[in-house]
Amino acid sequence: MDQRFWDDRYLEQDQLWSGAPNGVLVAEVADLSPGQALDLGCGEGADALWLAGRGWLVTAVDISRVALERAAAAAGDVSVCWTHGDVTRYGPPAGAFDLVSALYFPLPRTAPAALRALLAAVAPGGTLLVAGHDLDGTRHHHDPDPAIDPDDFYRPDEIAKLLDDTWTVQVDETRPRVSPAPPGSGHVNDIVLKARRAPSR
Ligand SMILES: C[S@@+](CC[C@H](N)C(=O)[O-])C[C@H]1O[C@@H](n2cnc3c(N)ncnc32)[C@H](O)[C@@H]1O
Repeated sequence: MDQRFWDDRYLEQDQLWSGAPNGVLVAEVADLSPGQALDLGCGEGADALWLAGRGWLVTAVDISRVALERAAAAAGDVSVCWTHGDVTRYGPPAGAFDLVSALYFPLPRTAPAALRALLAAVAPGGTLLVAGHDLDGTRHHHDPDPAIDPDDFYRPDEIAKLLDDTWTVQVDETRPRVSPAPPGSGHVNDIVLKARRAPSR
């Protein structure tokens, strides 16, 4: 799942994702005061643009240049810091973001240092939001790419267990997707983690 994999995937269609913000983002972030946000695996940019439209200053990272070009084109005059990079190697500044979101972002278990860096990027008092596909019992029938094993990637509920007592877990649950699953997909439920880092004293 390197840049070539993702560029090729995007090039298969003029638009890969819906263009609408992720329902998890809308549900969990609408009430937060805007600040600095880091969107990991931003894809075609719908989430970053939704955040920017609500006053967030957004850094949006993706490994696919094709996706980032589409995101920048969709943005028009809206200002987002579109950043090409591999999150498994990207070292975001520690404590810099009031929101770090990773929505349907495949973070490999082989990159524990990247996970630690992402957690460290959340500012005191800031929020971590992670959502993934709940594919239990369905993936062998519906996964669009059988070469991808979901067990190779961190699950949000697993990340929740790694958080220390400087975090308050606000949401750690499996729940139905807000928008319908794409045709042919078995992804009807999301796994969602929302956690708040303790404010500085
Ligand atoms: C399933 S898509 C989700 C896109 C977007 N977050 C959404 O919900 O519509 C996963 C995205 O992560 C990006 N990606 C995958 N591995 C990455 C990595 N190691 N570093 C940065 N981006 C990555 C892909 O290019 C793709 O755009």
